[in-house]
Amino acid sequence: MEEKKKDLLRRLTIISIPFVFVAIPSIVIIVGMLSPHAAEPRDAAAAAQSPAQNHSVSMLSTMTGGQMILSCRAAFAGNWEYFHYFILDPYKPQRAYFQPPTVGGESYAILCKWGYMGNFLQDVVVFNSSAAYARRCRVEEGGCHYLFQDGHMFLVTGKQPTKAAPEQRREKALVGDLVLRECTHVLAVFPTMCRYKRHDHQYVGNIIGRWRWWFNY
Ligand SMILES: *[C@@H]1O[C@H](CO)[C@@H](O)[C@H](O)[C@H]1NC(C)=O
Ligand SMILES: *[C@@H]1O[C@H](CO)[C@@H](O)[C@H](O)[C@H]1NC(C)=O
Repeated sequence: MEEKKKDLLRRLTIISIPFVFVAIPSIVIIVGMLSPHAAEPRDAAAAAQSPAQNHSVSMLSTMTGGQMILSCRAAFAGNWEYFHYFILDPYKPQRAYFQPPTVGGESYAILCKWGYMGNFLQDVVVFNSSAAYARRCRVEEGGCHYLFQDGHMFLVTGKQPTKAAPEQRREKALVGDLVLRECTHVLAVFPTMCRYKRHDHQYVGNIIGRWRWWFNY
């Protein structure tokens, strides 16, 4: 009797293996494929795409203390999606293209978290469809170029004058200051003392700590 019970249990175990590893995952996958998906946010944008809608932002750091990182997201219609992660080595510009949706007439913005040598900012706006400079970020107009120089962030727009278009010019405008700390080592026994460097203009974003940098948008 006891032997029979054990045998039955063994058989049940063997029979159940394909269910656990094959049948159940298959059902999960099939149900997942059949269930309605959330609308792709890019659908509307794709329909409205035209060369004139092609925009770009580029980043260039001339600050040689280390790599600068910008982790950017796009905010639209109360929602947001990942946009681009810039890892900037000094003097190596990077560019990213985007097509802000024209439907709905809602504001489209790109906000970044900024990090450089243990200093962090969030909500650094690099594009805002409602701002006056927005049309200058169109690829046709030359795009928007952000320059990080000596603790400042500048926006450079426009194109260099050429023979064919001598009226063209580039413009450089200050966006604001970057947060930077200076640290002093007061003897080896004391912890390093850091304080924020003096700055003359508003910061380009809000100061955050390392934890917020890693875990928060
Ligand atoms: C935007 O312009 C860039 C540079 O001209 C091009 O490489 C890219 O394919 C364009 N993107 C779209 C969606 O038109
Ligand atoms: C974009 O610009 C508009 C108009 O100036 C402003 O109300 C809005 O707060 C800005 N959005 C962001 C994310 O800065």
